[in-house]
Amino acid sequence: MERTEIYRSACNWAEQAGKMLTASLENERKVEYKTSAADLVTEMDRAVEEFFAEKIKETYPDHFILGEEGTVSGQKDYTCEQETVWLIDPVDGTTNFVHQKRNFAVSVAVFHKGTPVAGVIYDPVAKEMFHALKGEGAWLNERKMPGLKEVSLKEALVAMNSLWLAPNDYVDCEKMQRLTTTVRGVRCQGSAALELAHVACGRLDASVAMGLGPWDFGAALVILEEAGATVTAKSGEAVFPFAPSSVIAARPGLHEKLISDYFIQP
Ligand code: IPD
Ligand code: CA
Ligand code: CA
Repeated sequence: MERTEIYRSACNWAEQAGKMLTASLENERKVEYKTSAADLVTEMDRAVEEFFAEKIKETYPDHFILGEEGTVSGQKDYTCEQETVWLIDPVDGTTNFVHQKRNFAVSVAVFHKGTPVAGVIYDPVAKEMFHALKGEGAWLNERKMPGLKEVSLKEALVAMNSLWLAPNDYVDCEKMQRLTTTVRGVRCQGSAALELAHVACGRLDASVAMGLGPWDFGAALVILEEAGATVTAKSGEAVFPFAPSSVIAARPGLHEKLISDYFIQP
């Protein structure tokens, strides 16, 4: 398996997908509800996923694709841990794509036999590509990310969805309320992939997310690790890349404090 070539393909195709999305911004959107009015899909989510499926099938016919919109057909049964798998979120932040026409991203990860190969998160409006090849550092466009210094909880800017502040199935909302009044500030950007990419490059100090799918966090796992951030599930254990998971990502030190004080202790 040629890792560098796969990485280049992922970067090139993410950039091309970004162009498809920005070119479509002035068109009228065809918006459908998936599970609710807060869970959207558009014709562009499907078109971009199909674009990736075509490219991957043509270039790497023995690879598999796990895409959010499930548009990929003709794959035989496979086990993620035994194959090369592309995790694709064609538009992460579809609600932003529809309402704001910005603050969305294309997220692409490649895993080989369960091990990260490459991760790419592309924000086509900002023209920012967050990318990493395992073992080669994390990059924002042509600049290597500088590494992450420690900060205290009271100095931290934390990304979190307001859903976790009301009673929910994932986390103790009273602890989350206490967290919001302890840290310097809280942000909700509406794209998990971008929030995690922004932790990697130091614009955010931590991100607290529940119930994400593999396509939401796959690319970010590779980039965060290469950037020197710590990332686990809320249990403090490693995130399993091929199933829904919570994802707590933060600067080293801050991560341990978050997990011990807000997620593990009774
Ligand atoms: C969603 C976004 C959002 C996160 C949701 C995701 P989508 O992805 O990343 O920030 O809170 O859990 O499902 O639906 O826009 O691809
Ligand atoms: Ca998503
Ligand atoms: Ca999506």
